[in-house]
Amino acid sequence: PQVCWLTPEQTAGKQKPYMYTQGQAVLNRSFFPCFDTPSVKFTYSATVQVPEGFTAVMSATSCEKQKDNTFVFKMSQPIPSYLIALAVGDIVSADVGPRSRVWAEPCLIEAAKKEYDGVIEEFLAVGEKLFGPYVWGRYDILFMPPSFPFGGMENPCLTFVTPCLLAGDRSLADVIIHEISHSWFGNLVTNATWGEFWLNEGFTMYAQRRISTEVYGLAYTCLEAATGRALLRQHMDNTGEDHPLNKLRVVIEQGFSFFLGVNPDDTYNETPYEKGYCFVSYLAHLVGDQSKFDTFLQAYVNRFKFQSITADDTLGFFLEYFPELKEKGVDSIPGFEFDRWLNTPGWPPYLPDLSPGEQLMKPADELAELWAADSLNMEAIEAVDITAWRTYQLVYFLDQVLQKSPLPEGNVERLSKMYPKISKAQNAELRLRWCQIILKNNLEAEYSKVKDFLHSQGKQKYTLPLYRAMWGGSESARALAMETFSATAPQLHVNVQNYVKKILGLEVVE
Ligand code: BES
Ligand code: ZN
Repeated sequence: PQVCWLTPEQTAGKQKPYMYTQGQAVLNRSFFPCFDTPSVKFTYSATVQVPEGFTAVMSATSCEKQKDNTFVFKMSQPIPSYLIALAVGDIVSADVGPRSRVWAEPCLIEAAKKEYDGVIEEFLAVGEKLFGPYVWGRYDILFMPPSFPFGGMENPCLTFVTPCLLAGDRSLADVIIHEISHSWFGNLVTNATWGEFWLNEGFTMYAQRRISTEVYGLAYTCLEAATGRALLRQHMDNTGEDHPLNKLRVVIEQGFSFFLGVNPDDTYNETPYEKGYCFVSYLAHLVGDQSKFDTFLQAYVNRFKFQSITADDTLGFFLEYFPELKEKGVDSIPGFEFDRWLNTPGWPPYLPDLSPGEQLMKPADELAELWAADSLNMEAIEAVDITAWRTYQLVYFLDQVLQKSPLPEGNVERLSKMYPKISKAQNAELRLRWCQIILKNNLEAEYSKVKDFLHSQGKQKYTLPLYRAMWGGSESARALAMETFSATAPQLHVNVQNYVKKILGLEVVE
């Protein structure tokens, strides 16, 4: 069941069926026989025969098309089972760089090429400068059908991404930078167990923001990191800071069914990403010098490449690499003990300084403040021109508005009229926030936007927060949730379906 079979209606082109696999975390055991743990690495080859008019692609270092629509793939570097991936559909490709091409259904290929032509190579080159050689040969990107449950999946040589990234203005390239960063953190140096998923994602968030800082500058990167921090805040508020999944090192208990024990897929929440990012930033802060820490990261990748490791390996190597820090006992500074970072749930004890993003955040903070007032100061509001704001500035602004919601009666309606750039946005990150604001303010007149957004894509990080908001809302919001879910369930990934069912109190059948 974890091999996803899509009908023509579930694709962008609506002409031909499509199939794809999603391995992470523990789904590939239903695709092929394997040691389905990230602690085992191996090379692989695969022979895939497809019907006439279809193309097969895989996470492999080479591909050869033979007669009878047969594709032969080889991955010549050892990888863990979760990184094997296959997609078959009506897909074509276009070059976007010396070692990169985009793959998509024919109706999307133009847009895909336009979005990423000439930019991927810069991300790769900066990554190599910071973290060492890119060992995977090609870096290609496959734009998936709308129901793909993730923003991106770092399948080696061929990242799978949501078509939501086709925003038209390159504003969501941070997802690509993130997946490229996994080429070193995750795909080369791999968490040995899913209990230490933060080793993959926390280091990748750090690497992503290092590349972003080099390419886009510190101010923009801090702004993006601030939106990440807001997600961590929302997540901890939702689950409670003390929730056992809010530790970096999660205990994956054995269970007997979906309800018992811990499913490794449940570790896919903001904690390993953003708390993990804070811990890596804390290590950099202990070192005190960015270029020294960059050099350490490169040595770390070199030391553990093609291996699977635990946090003890990482932290042991850190202390070995910086003996003067080990001497000072930085692993046991009261309140910041490495052990506390790993094993205590809750808000990170150290937060990196994001004030270089202030110039971009402050106008958004102030505008959100104005919109939250009981009687609106329209003169002050009209004096702020948001037409030139970057997408992430708008995202940050909407997060502030959401935090202050419900706003006084009538304010959201006026905000909606004033900023069609927001309320009629096509950009998925903006649509998510706008839908959250609609629900938090119970704006029934705009419910159709929530419905349309959930019909248009099936990304888990967009879908679950909206169902949570609907289910926690009014009677009519709950009805909207039920109605939308019964219409869209068949097109959602089975994991996402099950998570929504849990939210709606429906029975989960394994
Ligand atoms: N490897 C993850 C996606 C994933 C995690 C799949 C856990 C299955 C289980 C991927 O690298 C990722 O983190 N994607 C993010 C991108 C974002 C942080 C920029 C996503 O999909 O939102
Ligand atoms: Zn990731």
